[in-house]
Amino acid sequence: MSLVLGIESSCDETAAALVRLGAGGAREIVAQHIASQDEAHRPYGGVVPEIAARAHVERVAPLVAATLVDAGLTLADVDAIAATAGPGLIGGVMVGLVTAKALAMASDKPLIAINHLEGHALSPRLADPGLAFPYLLLLASGGHCQLLRVEGVGAYRRLATTIDDALGEAFDKTAKILGLGYPGGPAVERLAATGNAKAVPLPRPLLGSADPNFSFAGLKSAVLRAQEAGIHAAADIAAAFQQAAIDCVIDRSRRALDVAGEVTALVVAGGVAANRAIRLALEELAAERGLRFVAPPVALCTDNAAMIAWAGLERLAAPGFVADPLDFPARPRWPL
Ligand code: KG4
Ligand code: ZN
Repeated sequence: MSLVLGIESSCDETAAALVRLGAGGAREIVAQHIASQDEAHRPYGGVVPEIAARAHVERVAPLVAATLVDAGLTLADVDAIAATAGPGLIGGVMVGLVTAKALAMASDKPLIAINHLEGHALSPRLADPGLAFPYLLLLASGGHCQLLRVEGVGAYRRLATTIDDALGEAFDKTAKILGLGYPGGPAVERLAATGNAKAVPLPRPLLGSADPNFSFAGLKSAVLRAQEAGIHAAADIAAAFQQAAIDCVIDRSRRALDVAGEVTALVVAGGVAANRAIRLALEELAAERGLRFVAPPVALCTDNAAMIAWAGLERLAAPGFVADPLDFPARPRWPL
């Protein structure tokens, strides 16, 4: 049985969590706290790195303390301390990582530096103990859009990535164009549900292409032109955008399944996995291929510390575990 404290601070969520891997593989989020900075960034229509870093500084220590208090535990009960060490906004990453280093040093516990993308990639196994390697993962967030064959802890084969914008970024920019505010994804999804996707013709970049990657920049520009034309209802543009995005995601995922070899499941993670229309389309693709479809609960899809603690637990449980050094660098860029 082991217990890991996780810290996340790579974007605009400050979070701490305690996750336990029990006897027989049982997994439990013992306690967690997430402080969103949406309010602080809303006036700017996006995340302002300097504001984010300052907010992380104010919040991270109280959140860790509250998480331990909620669980009725102290650092002495913890087996390791895991923190996001990148990729992300460097000021924020440094705050969480240096906090974890200080806690590790003070309590003489191992430090585990986690790649934020690895946190997203492994989080479905926290929610679903039956999910076995290898699986095909669509990782779609504000900063990333990738298809990965997750083959084991630390073994990720990237089959596709975006050549321009991330999918969440495309949702956020569409929201901005339509005046829906920040964060954009949920607002676009809500508005899309009331619109007619067929009313606005939009492109589907790379659809059917032999190039395995994603591209959303052309779609975003087309959304801007459709809005500027002044003849379409915002709901119709939102619906058309979401449908075009779904068509691209499904086409790219289908292609990745064609070349991935054997997989146990089609899995989606990252903030965009909160989108119900995208989940539904992926579920249909999985059914078409006779595969299980796994999507973690929404709270585990958007940024959180439980996924970081869980990735730490997976690392701790893997053969040949070695703790990371206290001079482990914060990495703004860190491909999986
Ligand atoms: O994983 P995440 O919380 O942070 C990053 O690591 O980027 O993902 C946030 C992204 C944002 O771009 C947000 O607009 C998008 O996920 N998102 C959604 C939805 N909920 C969040 N996109 C589409 N539909 C949603 N319901
Ligand atoms: Zn993320």
